[in-house]
Amino acid sequence: RKKVTIQTLHALRQSKTPITMITAYDYPTALACSSSTLTDITLVGDSLAQVCLGYPSTTKLTIDEMIHHSRAVSRGNTHPLLVADMPFGSYHVSVEDAIRNAVRMVREGGAEAVKLEGGKEISDIVRRLTEVGIPVMAHVGLLPQRHAALSGYRVQGRSVDGAQKVLSDALALQRAGAFSVVVEAVPQELGRYATERLSIPTIGIGAGPGTSGQVLVLDDIMGTWSGHKAKFVRRFANLKEVRDNGVQKYAEGVRDGSFPDPATESYSMDPELWEKFL
Ligand code: KIV
Ligand code: NA
Repeated sequence: RKKVTIQTLHALRQSKTPITMITAYDYPTALACSSSTLTDITLVGDSLAQVCLGYPSTTKLTIDEMIHHSRAVSRGNTHPLLVADMPFGSYHVSVEDAIRNAVRMVREGGAEAVKLEGGKEISDIVRRLTEVGIPVMAHVGLLPQRHAALSGYRVQGRSVDGAQKVLSDALALQRAGAFSVVVEAVPQELGRYATERLSIPTIGIGAGPGTSGQVLVLDDIMGTWSGHKAKFVRRFANLKEVRDNGVQKYAEGVRDGSFPDPATESYSMDPELWEKFL
């Protein structure tokens, strides 16, 4: 498949073809995301923190860690547009600092676009990044980087004021130049309405079927994540069972001596040479 561009995403939105986005964290998961011609976007999500690095939340992730993993993803990613999350704290200090860090994400991390969490309050940063040629994907609704301020991971935009805030934030970010927006954990009515009001593609996660596309964390799709399973997660495979079974079978084989097989899984020496050696 030809490389997916921002223009491709707009065309998919226009034709009401749901956009597909999956997270990746390293070279093998990037190959997985690129293995189907139906995938449009690979996201190096900062869920990297929990899923891959064992941190309790995304706020622990550094920009150096993100770049290290993003580079690995970029070596395996083929046709999908490669977007990477800017980690917590890497775009909050000043516009200059945000640009410096976003440039690193592109030059060192191989990202083709960056994703930033937040509403109107980050629109100046989104505008400047866009102006210097770094495409920005916005992220509204539930903002995991602010789990402490939000007192946990909860559905957003369920009140009249809350819904208005999600919509006006998304509109402000579109005006600031964002090429797309992730909408996380909001009522499906709001997911659909925001999608109708915006002219850029919306990518939903827990936002119902009415958005321009969907994103899920790869480990949730594969059933390898054993932590909390959100309402919006569907496990499309059960790799954890397959994986743990492989480990168990291998360990059993070693223990009982059935692995390795001397005839097919071992090297042999010429008997005459072996005699000489002895
Ligand atoms: O970090 C992440 O994985 C994300 C997506 C799930 C939207 O931001
Ligand atoms: Na994220």
